[in-house]
Amino acid sequence: MSKKIPYRTYLSEEQMPKYWYNLRADMKEQHDPYVNPGTMKPIQYEDLLPVFCEELVKQEMNTTERYIAIPEEVREFYKTYRPSPLIRAYNLEKELKTPAKIYYKFEGNNTSGSHKLNSAVAQVYYAKMQGITSLTTETGAGQWGTALSMAAAYFNMPLTVFMVKVSAEQKPYRKAIMETFGAKVIPSPSDTTDSGKAILKADPKTGGSLGCAISEAVEQAVKTPNCRYVLGSVLDQVLLHQAIMGSEAKIAMELLDEYPDVVIGCIGGGSNFGGIISEYMADKLNGRKCPRFIAVEPASCPSLTRGKYAYDFCDTGKITPLAKMYTLGSGFKPSPIHAGGLRYHGDAPIVCNLAAEGLIEARAYYQNECFEAARLFLSTEGFLPAPETSHAIKAVIDLAKEAAPGSVITFLYSGHGLLDLASYEAYLKGGLTNFELPQEDIDTALKDCPEI
Ligand SMILES: Cc1ncc(COP(=O)(O)O)c(C=O)c1O
Repeated sequence: MSKKIPYRTYLSEEQMPKYWYNLRADMKEQHDPYVNPGTMKPIQYEDLLPVFCEELVKQEMNTTERYIAIPEEVREFYKTYRPSPLIRAYNLEKELKTPAKIYYKFEGNNTSGSHKLNSAVAQVYYAKMQGITSLTTETGAGQWGTALSMAAAYFNMPLTVFMVKVSAEQKPYRKAIMETFGAKVIPSPSDTTDSGKAILKADPKTGGSLGCAISEAVEQAVKTPNCRYVLGSVLDQVLLHQAIMGSEAKIAMELLDEYPDVVIGCIGGGSNFGGIISEYMADKLNGRKCPRFIAVEPASCPSLTRGKYAYDFCDTGKITPLAKMYTLGSGFKPSPIHAGGLRYHGDAPIVCNLAAEGLIEARAYYQNECFEAARLFLSTEGFLPAPETSHAIKAVIDLAKEAAPGSVITFLYSGHGLLDLASYEAYLKGGLTNFELPQEDIDTALKDCPEI
């Protein structure tokens, strides 16, 4: 008789990967280079040094080294919450009456509440090693800001977080945690930077966006001596750090003698999705296996499903490098959906490159159906998902209903929703709008995309 697979599979500390897997080393084609907004030419190593820490720039440019050693200090920190469990969703399977096996990699088990800590600790560590004396960043929903505040507190690094204004209003407790960790939190757009002032002048009532907050954080970093900017998604270096989730998932599934037929994650800038798919994508690129990969986004911010594959600015103020990505336009004004981390106008160039090659599929859902999926997940599996994570869960439920017997669905549970209770309350009161994005809005925002 075959052994029953446990509900939870925990790796030991010794089994935690000592290397980050670098997917670019296995990609046949690299994504198009970032472009310097001043010269409109491919960005050079030196161009990035005033903005980012040196070691992180090296990682950003490293397309050849397959495995990059995780520094000892970062691994020690990881051990406070990693390896994270791989959970078999027996109760959800039963409720759905699905013939599929569903697994999720659980990243809600640290105080900051999400996968974002995996990159935050690495980035603060490298800043500290370089002798940097302060950092800036932006945050949408607040999870990245919280994760970075936690890592900054651990390494005693002063931090300023520009938080998208609408999220700061929707999620006051996120701001409170960041401040408790010692970070300075500024709702964005603000009048503390030139880009913030310009955005406010153009639209005094704006609720802000990740694009605006990035402009402010980058501006403060370059204008402050010995300060650098750090980003929680989109960049290759962030996907590199997040690959630890996929590597752990793969080790655990091998122990169970399982392999996913489909791997699912929600997508904002692409870091949790890029992380969970990484080692599985290598199998596909090298012809060893052929899993499906599904990125799930909000219908109100449908960059992968309805965006244009083009060079665009990563921020609204147009001061950052340009990236080739599926974009809705850097001036895109997102609707105030509760999944604040999924409101970015573009996606990680690595993910976009793979999507353009047809290796990744994308789906978009409305927020009410995602909250409904989250509620089913809570009542079966017992965990309250972040509104972002609920998008992945909705796709899992849809796929499970039509799955072949014995097929395996693996998804990334990117974070908990315990600080998103105001969103759940609004959902239960029936007060959420299913924002539909008019094509004219996309067309208007895309007009601003430079021709490169
Ligand atoms: C819990 C959670 N999941 C997903 C995301 C989306 O970001 P990314 O696509 O970089 O993983 C966020 C972003 O804030 C998040 O907080």
